[in-house]
Amino acid sequence: MIPFTMHGSHILSTGSAVPEICINNDLLSTVLDTSDKWISTRTGIKERKIIAENQSIIDLANIAANKALHKGLLQPTDLDLILFSTSTPHDLFGSASKLQYSLGATNAAAFDITSACSGFVIALIVAHQFIQTGIYNNILIIGADTLSQWVDWSDRTTCILFGDGAGAAILQKKQQNDILAFEINTDGSESQQLSINYKYPTKTNSKPNINKQFIAKSSQQYEYLTMNGKEVYKFAVSKVPYSITNCLHTTSLKAKDITWLLLHQANQRILETVANKLQIPMDKVLSNIEFYGNTSAASIPIALDEAFSTGHICNQDVIAIAGFGAGLTWASILIQWSTIEQ
Ligand code: COA
Repeated sequence: MIPFTMHGSHILSTGSAVPEICINNDLLSTVLDTSDKWISTRTGIKERKIIAENQSIIDLANIAANKALHKGLLQPTDLDLILFSTSTPHDLFGSASKLQYSLGATNAAAFDITSACSGFVIALIVAHQFIQTGIYNNILIIGADTLSQWVDWSDRTTCILFGDGAGAAILQKKQQNDILAFEINTDGSESQQLSINYKYPTKTNSKPNINKQFIAKSSQQYEYLTMNGKEVYKFAVSKVPYSITNCLHTTSLKAKDITWLLLHQANQRILETVANKLQIPMDKVLSNIEFYGNTSAASIPIALDEAFSTGHICNQDVIAIAGFGAGLTWASILIQWSTIEQ
């Protein structure tokens, strides 16, 4: 029998990219019945970056990926797998293959993972499985979303929350293992709380007109993003602390051992409530929501990249990361950051 060895996953490097167009709360207040005061006190958001008409999610992902490759001293051809986490694909058949081509990552398999704001954490956990079993050596994980293209900009209850962006991380096979624990959860019974539904053609009693025009028209329609803000808020602050605690229980660590709490950047009040429930002080909570709003799958890797680049995250720091959102899904992962190769 061939002996089976588990391998360690090491986060080699990170990268991120946000568009240049900046929409601040004051600008939004000129077109919507809202105010900087309402938005910033209820959400912590001051501004969001949105993609230009001639830009695509692939462009953003490409910049983030190239930064991660550069920092990790890797060539695109060193990649074995690309996991592209997005809910706002450039092409419903997937974005990963387009990114593979634009990077020139000719040796990499590539596929998409759709799991909204939990997507990056879930992709990281999926990548960890491929590394642990020894199948792949270098995996690029992308979290990218352009929800500005899917929200109704006349709906003040949703559009104020979202922004666009991309983040990247490279997971590498090593002897050391940076991933201490993880869990993924889903409650599909509550999926209606946050969704972008396919818009079915209005039902008529007449026979469907199966001609090219009908098919083309009916296949292009999606509703705008809809959300029950209060329910999503309650879901996040109840499930996330429990999930992080579950992860801690599978290790010998306690909440006090967490160096950084990195939550999906949905709302500053959610960050504060979760931290409070875990008895983690706010100076250990990473937050950049003020500048980007909720960038969905991109929010965690952007914050991770910024915290590492600015020297906040250091060798051996324990980072508790949790994503949550549409699905409803939520996923947590505990990482011990290591900058020194073993
Ligand atoms: N500007 C001004 N007023 C607004 C507004 C805006 N942008 N959006 C809503 N309002 C109004 C409402 O119409 C309501 O008015 P009323 O009292 O006259 O009916 C009032 O403000 C309160 O609205 P409510 O929906 O109760 O506010 P809230 O305190 O629940 O905050 C959210 C709304 C969306 C900020 C909050 O529910 C939230 O953040 N939820 C989580 C959403 C989230 O994170 N989603 C993504 C998860 S991945």
